[in-house]
Amino acid sequence: MELLLKNANIVTDKENYISDIYIADGIIKKIEKNIEIPNIKTIDIEGKYLIPGGIDVHTHFNIDVGIAKSVDDFYTGTVAAACGGTTTIIDHMGFGPKGCSLHHQLEKYHEFAEKNAVIDYSFHGVIQHIDNEILNEIDSMISDGIPSFKGYMTYDYKLSDKDMLKLSYKLSSSGGLLTVHPENNDIIDYLKNKFAAEGKLSPKYHRESRPSRCEGEAVNRMADITSVTDCPLYIVHLSCEEGLNHIKEAKDKGQKIFAETCPQYLVLDESCYSLPENEGLKYICSPPIREKHHQEKLWEGIREGYIQTVATDHCSFSFSEQKLMGKDDFRKCPNGLPGVETRVALMFSEGVSKGRIDINKFVEVVSTNPAKLFGIYPQKGCIAAGSDADLVVIDPKIRKKITKGELHENTDYTPFENIEIIGCPVMTISRGEIIVKDNKFIGQKGRGKFLKRKPFSY
Ligand code: URP
Ligand code: ZN
Ligand code: ZN
Repeated sequence: MELLLKNANIVTDKENYISDIYIADGIIKKIEKNIEIPNIKTIDIEGKYLIPGGIDVHTHFNIDVGIAKSVDDFYTGTVAAACGGTTTIIDHMGFGPKGCSLHHQLEKYHEFAEKNAVIDYSFHGVIQHIDNEILNEIDSMISDGIPSFKGYMTYDYKLSDKDMLKLSYKLSSSGGLLTVHPENNDIIDYLKNKFAAEGKLSPKYHRESRPSRCEGEAVNRMADITSVTDCPLYIVHLSCEEGLNHIKEAKDKGQKIFAETCPQYLVLDESCYSLPENEGLKYICSPPIREKHHQEKLWEGIREGYIQTVATDHCSFSFSEQKLMGKDDFRKCPNGLPGVETRVALMFSEGVSKGRIDINKFVEVVSTNPAKLFGIYPQKGCIAAGSDADLVVIDPKIRKKITKGELHENTDYTPFENIEIIGCPVMTISRGEIIVKDNKFIGQKGRGKFLKRKPFSY
């Protein structure tokens, strides 16, 4: 299959220029002005932006959180991703039976994804417990193409500091990357019980039971633990200034520390928890949506390079049946928000169109850095001869409001309803195939391929 794209305003993490691109067999073959090849499919991009396809390194498809099962699977989730300009996702394997092996979960996730995913994909290993068997399995997981492993500091399968230390020793000597959900579990536990005893069970007490300092403390603890083991550390869904300050301090000392934030922390604020008619439940996620002043700090962290990626933490539940389980008690509301489809548009609009970041930084955080950190660069995350032809056209002139009716995520709401967008993806190409045009998915179910990722070497 061949494809010629004419007059594209190509944007990478470093440059922008007008050119044509010739694609064959799913790969970018030539980038030059005035390429003429008769009798092949040719599309005039008309000077719109052409960026490397978005890479979302934090999704939770098919996840069962005990009180609810998320509503997006690898088909609906990747269709939504593709419609929003994302051509690769890295999903977090959910928790398996207590004591199960890493490969048990890996096999399960291969089954979930193959025959369903419509874009290329990989998984992060998730560590439920630490023992010698798990530590011994890590090398073979890395050989199987899974070099990143997540440890939670809260929830049922939280790891102790000692477990994190053992894990990070192992990963630092094996070419692995430790990714961490940082929140101080004791503080959360204590505050949740205290608020419940006082009858404070509305959504805003979800936020109050998880203060930003409890995230900051956990980031700092992990930075110290991994400084002992020299293990690369990646902080997921950073939401607050306190965490960012600890990251800056560690990075400025030369530590291998990286951070991800998500659109919800950049564009929403805590007032969402006080919306009437149980609407606040729509925003229950962990860490919670913060006070407004954190937003500008996070944008600054992106501009200064302390935050390298913007992912979504897409973990979707329906409002009408699942989020509403928390209407009398926030503790019964499943944690998580949809967002895989709105990330690229929100980052372009809130970031580039509103002048908070330049367009190269936008490409860096939504595509290039995720590819580099997670071992798929330069196959993904760049526009160069030899790379996969994963490309997204962005029309910077489109103005519209985000509305659930236009999205493909399998939920009955979006937390970004009514936000005005200036500029958004209008075409998605995955390995040379146009899979989304005019907001319609036109590819085949199951066309996505598993990406065997390289060991960490950023
Ligand atoms: O509330 C959230 N973020 N749910 C998804 C699981 C996680 O913590 O990443
Ligand atoms: Zn998390
Ligand atoms: Zn998550």
